[in-house]
Formats: sequence, C-alpha cells, structure tokens
Amino acid sequence: MQLRRMPLNVAVAGALTAALLVGTAPSSTATVQNTPAGKTLRQLAKPTGVRIGTAVDTSALANDATYRTLVAQQFNSVTPENVMKWEVVQPERSRYDFTEADKLVDFARANKQKVRGHTLVWHSQLPSWLNEGTWTKRQLRRILRQHIKTEVGHFRGRVWAWDVVNEAFNEDGTLRDTIFLRTLGPGYIADSFRWAHQADPKAILFYNDYNIEGRNAKSDAAYALIKELVADGVPIHGYGVQGHLSTQYDLPNDMQGNLHRFGKLGLRTAVTEADVRITLPVSPAERLAQSAGYSYMLQSCLLERSCISFTVWGFTDKYSWVPGVFPGEGSANIYTEEYEAKAAYHALRRDLAVAGGVRPRRR
Ligand code: XIL
Repeated sequence: MQLRRMPLNVAVAGALTAALLVGTAPSSTATVQNTPAGKTLRQLAKPTGVRIGTAVDTSALANDATYRTLVAQQFNSVTPENVMKWEVVQPERSRYDFTEADKLVDFARANKQKVRGHTLVWHSQLPSWLNEGTWTKRQLRRILRQHIKTEVGHFRGRVWAWDVVNEAFNEDGTLRDTIFLRTLGPGYIADSFRWAHQADPKAILFYNDYNIEGRNAKSDAAYALIKELVADGVPIHGYGVQGHLSTQYDLPNDMQGNLHRFGKLGLRTAVTEADVRITLPVSPAERLAQSAGYSYMLQSCLLERSCISFTVWGFTDKYSWVPGVFPGEGSANIYTEEYEAKAAYHALRRDLAVAGGVRPRRR
C-alpha cells in the first residue's frame, strides 16, 4: 500500500482501522510487513513524532533488572509515578529531597529519554505538614510559589514537560474543593503556571486530568478555563488526558475531536497515564476490549497533530496501582506480571508501525 501518497487522515485512519480489524495477533501479511520483528515501541514511535512513555516506579527500577531493561528499551519518555510528588520532595516545610527523582532523571538522560514532571499542584499525596496546617491566603500563596519555583528550578533544563495542575475539576465541570481553591480562590491555577514558567521558561506546561479524554461536562469546563487562560496570556502549553479506562465502560466519546479543539487553541496535547483495567478474572473478550482501548487512545493521538506523547501508567501488572485502588479490578497494563507482552502491547506496536510512515514529524 502506498501510504505516503494518500491524504494523511485517510491513509492513517484506513491503515489503522485495517490493522485493528485483523485482531490481536499480528498475523496478516500487511501487519507483519508493518511491524518489523524485534523493533521496540520506542523504535517504532520515532518516525511518528509521538514520544512513547511509561510511568516509572523507582524502587522497581532499582531492584528489578527486567523492569529496568524494558524501561530503557521500550520507551523514550518517562514519568516518575510518585517521586516528584509534593509529599516526597518536600517532606517537611524546610526540607526538600530530590534524591529519588534525580536518579530517575539521570537514568532518563543515560537512555536518551525525555522526562515528564508529575506533578506540582494536586490535592492528593500532599505532605501532612501542609494538609494539616491552617494557612492564611498569604501564607499558602507563599508556600505554593516556593514549592513550584524550587521544584521546577531544581530540574530546570532536565524536565521536558510538567503536569503543573492535576485534577482540578469535578465530573460536573465545577472546580474541585481543595486546600488551594478554598484558600486561594480559582486564581491559584493561573498563578501556578506563571510561577512554573518563571522557573523554567523552556518546559512545556500541562493541565492534566482524568475523564477528560472525550467530550463531556468536565472536558468542556477544562476547555473554557484553558481558553480564558490562553486569552489572558497565561503560560499554559499543554492539555494532558490521563487515559485511565476500564473495559466495563464505553470508550471516551470523540477523543480525537476533543484533543483537536485544544490543539486549535495552540496547545500541545498528550495521553499521560494510559491503562485499561479489567474486572477479574479476565475473559478473552475483555482482553480484546483492553487492546482496543489502548489502541483507541493511541490512534486518537496519532491522528491529532498537537499530540506529542503517549504514556502508559506503568507497563507491567507486577507494579500496577490498579488492584490497590479499584478492588476486584486489575490486569490493566500491557505486560503481565511475568513480563509477557499482551495483545495490547502488540496493538500499540502495530499502530505505531502503521502510522510511522505517514505521520509528519513534529518540529
Ligand atoms: C498513583 C500512583 O500510581 C500510586 O502509586 C500512588 O499510590 C497514588 O497515585 N492520577 C495521577 C497519578 O495523576 O499521580 C496517580 O498515581 C494515578 C491517578
């Protein structure tokens, strides 16, 4: 097939749909041709211009050689799963600790990987001194500014993109009731982006949330806010959709169109935490639906020019956050606990391989 001669969207959509229809095992001639044996996800992603990333559990990175090898071989972007969060980097008000995060940043540099910094302003995983204190507006503003400037400043030039504000909206599109909203008012969001930008003018600054992959009340609210921030000249550069799906729910509605409207505002977009959990035990139909879920999110990204990275929230079930948070669910990642690649892994490879020849490189 002469993919290059076809209009981009038709070629990609057609090829990807054809690839999807062949099923989970890469068995048809077309798929085999387009999925050169032995190539890793990062090798296949390179010509697409979309970075392929994973969240990294830094204790697994230190202790599990298979894990470490796969992070290096399969991905060209990494996100610390926990070690850049506030409770880890500032355990006491007067003490910062970037030891674990620095190790990951060094690992990424050694393996020619970008780092997505995660996350600066979030209601969860806050240190107890902050959560349990009572603060005036003036005090909390100072604390937040110092935290952002210190952390972003520490990694200046070494972190490619930051999830500056994480999960600020409720499902109905109202702002989430957090210590920041309660004490500082909605202006904390714009301020956070301004402070992060001052600390590292080159980093790509993202708003990041879950259940905003498709069009709904929550993504509409994010769109309205971000549009306003852009109009006000606030340095916000990216819209990150986490991508935590479950096979018991429908796929997000019009994900490509949703990413596109943010792209039209001048933002980059990214899938930042993809996983597709399953109610255990896993049936063959759910395994297939999982693979389709990953594929749907990656294809939406590959079809949308603003989309610069696709990150999975861990790649092996061995260290998944899912069983601890969603009782009865699991098997959410692209490798089993024994590091066998699942259908979802093969689907991602196939999508990258098919798209690689036709998607223009990003600047
Ligand atoms: C999760 C981690 O995976 C867990 O290890 C941790 O205990 C809790 O946080 N949205 C986010 C991520 O933005 O930071 C969360 O990560 C998963 C949901």
